[in-house]
Amino acid sequence: MADDRPIGIFDSGFGGLTVARAVIDLLPDEDVVYFGDTGRYPYGPRPLEEVRAFAHEITRLLVEQHGVKMVVVACNTAAAAALPELEEVAGVPVVGVIEPGARSLVEVTESGRVGVIGTVGTIASGAYQASIAAMDGPGVELFCAACPGFVEFVERGVLEGDQITVLAERLLAPMVEAKVDSLLLGCTHYPYLARTISKVMGHGVVLVSSADETAFAVADALRALGAATTRRTPGTHRFLSSGDVAWFADLGRRLLGPELGSAESHVWISPR
Ligand code: DGL
Repeated sequence: MADDRPIGIFDSGFGGLTVARAVIDLLPDEDVVYFGDTGRYPYGPRPLEEVRAFAHEITRLLVEQHGVKMVVVACNTAAAAALPELEEVAGVPVVGVIEPGARSLVEVTESGRVGVIGTVGTIASGAYQASIAAMDGPGVELFCAACPGFVEFVERGVLEGDQITVLAERLLAPMVEAKVDSLLLGCTHYPYLARTISKVMGHGVVLVSSADETAFAVADALRALGAATTRRTPGTHRFLSSGDVAWFADLGRRLLGPELGSAESHVWISPR
């Protein structure tokens, strides 16, 4: 059995490109449709109800207009807000970033003191706290911190500099103090700031990104469902943005690489 339909991936903006990169690398023959909701980012400060409605809308768009065989929620905030019911909305399998990231965090820690950083929405939702509590044996102590402002730097294409360092020193201070030995980047934008985050945390702290783990989860799910493509030619990659498409193509190419040749516009009928 084979299914040649594309994999749909979405995020509020550029962050999910970290997941798209990992999916393209692991599954080069699969077609991918990526949706960045840059016209409505950031999701982090919005009420979870609103983010849930956005997640439903994008999922329907990917399934109904782009015929995807699977939806990858490459946004922690959207996954925290909508994941349990999204599969019903989609009518196709849905993979999120929270469970794969949490699993890999629990696997890498040696001291048992672990940290998760994310948007205000993700941290306040308690999704990571619940996910780690459900999987850990005894002995994992979890510290969480929201990092408002990080996403905005990435969306502006600013990935390093004094302003980010000063903000990171302030926001990550509780993590440094807690002496975590591993830190999960619980927002898909954060891997683009990894150099600064690592400098602030100290080189002994392992940074965990959910991108690779999520790609493995996608590959496992396709295999289990018998839904992987059997084509043995490079897949096609389409990128859609609800914001400025020229900027999406420019910055997106810098972040993801040459597969992002151009971006197509999607205009929401009633943008919020
Ligand atoms: N990249 C998204 C996440 O993983 C959120 C960014 C935003 O606040 O829009 O949570």
